[in-house]
Amino acid sequence: MVVIPCSTKTLAAIANGFSQNLIHRAAECMLKEGKKLVLVMRETPLSLIHLNNMVQVKQAGAVLLPASPGFYYNPKSIDDVVNFIVGKVLNSLGLKHKITKPWDPDMTK
Ligand SMILES: Cc1cc2nc3c(=O)[nH]c(=O)nc-3n(C[C@H](O)[C@H](O)[C@H](O)COP(=O)(O)O)c2cc1C
Repeated sequence: MVVIPCSTKTLAAIANGFSQNLIHRAAECMLKEGKKLVLVMRETPLSLIHLNNMVQVKQAGAVLLPASPGFYYNPKSIDDVVNFIVGKVLNSLGLKHKITKPWDPDMTK
C-alpha cells in the first residue's frame, strides 16, 4: 500500500493506531499483517512530533519515502520532478519501470 500524498495528519493517525478513515485503517492493517506500507510525506520544516511519528511508523515496519526530489539528474519539467518520486515509489515496491534511470555517477556531469 502506498499513501501518496501522506499528510502529517495521516502520518499521526497511522503512527498512533488512531484510525479515523479507510486509509488509516488499511494502513494499520498493512502494518499488523506485516505487509509493505509506503508513506510519501511532503512537509517542511518538521516538528519533533512529526519526527517522533516517523520513527514510530518506521519501527512498525513502514517505508518512509518523503516527496523530496533529487536535482542531480537535471530535471527539465515538473513531470520530471514528479516522475523522480514515482520511480522511487515503484523501486520501493520492487516493480520494474522505465520512468527513471537507475543511479549513475555520470548523470551528475
Ligand atoms: C493547499 C494545501 C496544501 C497542503 N499541503 C500539505 C502538505 O504538503 N503536507 C501536509 O502534511 N499537509 C498539507 N496540508 C494540510 C492537510 O491537507 C490537512 O492537514 C488535512 O487535514 C489532511 O487530511 P488527510 O490526511 O485526511 O488528507 C495542505 C493543505 C492545503 C489546503
